[in-house]
Amino acid sequence: MIDKIKEYIGVAQSFSTENKEELEAFRIKFLGKKGVLNDFFAEFKNVPNDQKKEFGQVINALKNAAEEKVKSIVEALESKEETKGIFGDLTRAAEPVIVGSRHPISIVKNQIIDIFANIGFNVSEGPEIEDDWHNFTALNLPEYHPARDMQDTFFIQTNPDVLLRTHTSSVQVRYMENHKPPIRTISPGRVFRNEAISSRSHCIFHQVEGLYIDKDVSFADLKQTLLYFTKEMFGKSKIRLRPSYFPFTEPSAEIDIYWGLKTETDYRITKGTGWLEIGGCGMVDPNVLKNCDINPDEYNGFAFGMGVERIAMLLYQIGDIRMFYENDVRFLEQFKANI
Ligand code: DAH
Repeated sequence: MIDKIKEYIGVAQSFSTENKEELEAFRIKFLGKKGVLNDFFAEFKNVPNDQKKEFGQVINALKNAAEEKVKSIVEALESKEETKGIFGDLTRAAEPVIVGSRHPISIVKNQIIDIFANIGFNVSEGPEIEDDWHNFTALNLPEYHPARDMQDTFFIQTNPDVLLRTHTSSVQVRYMENHKPPIRTISPGRVFRNEAISSRSHCIFHQVEGLYIDKDVSFADLKQTLLYFTKEMFGKSKIRLRPSYFPFTEPSAEIDIYWGLKTETDYRITKGTGWLEIGGCGMVDPNVLKNCDINPDEYNGFAFGMGVERIAMLLYQIGDIRMFYENDVRFLEQFKANI
């Protein structure tokens, strides 16, 4: 009998559970009315007198072991419940939260806006469906001007006056028609050109236009503004303004930045020169000011236009412009960290 009780002590001591029902079953089995302990206590009177003392000690040991066990498991379960509280189990590993990401074009566009906002430029927008005046004529590109051909225009229906804007320079005109100098504005937006789609060009892309009109603005102001921008955007402080031609600026220039030749990709994107063209610029042609009712004898200024995809491709080392428009989540998910 004593050996049997000792066996039960072992069972009670080694018992473990994290489940309330199992604990209750254990308690009933050992400490309940019809439990093991009561059975043994009932046997007490049949135990020979010389064994009574040892029997009593062992049976008490069993009682203690069972009670201790129940107590310690109850405490363990309660403390677990406390940490759960109303928020659930705070010790559990966090569930991954699925967050979206901005499109790389939006990320770069917002960066450009921030950089120019710091030197007093506001943001302006215009329509994507334009008329001939704002996209061409007011920008010193009258009908039959040869430079119109460079712009591979999408016309809407058969009306040659309605078209998809080929550049954001159209917003310059709209802004000057509605605001008097001093003007400092940038106009980000989508533009359209009837071009063959390849890894380097697309029929839809984005530009950011800049316009600065005031009294006594110089070409040095333009260069300094662009230099500030390239420093902030790329961390590069070497730019080159290459003489060029745009009907709406005189003089005009292409903006090149010195990107360097550290990696193989650098060689590829700069065609081995280290220099990369990011847009065009110049001093606003007096004819454009006149067309917008601004007196060119009183005011002058500069303008520039940059391709957003170009900049994003450079910054993120994206080799194919079509990636921006395919909406492949595997591509887009890579920009999560760049909100
Ligand atoms: N509109 C030109 C283009 O799409 C870019 C440009 C060049 C804009 C010179 C300007 C500028 O404002 O001054 O290629």
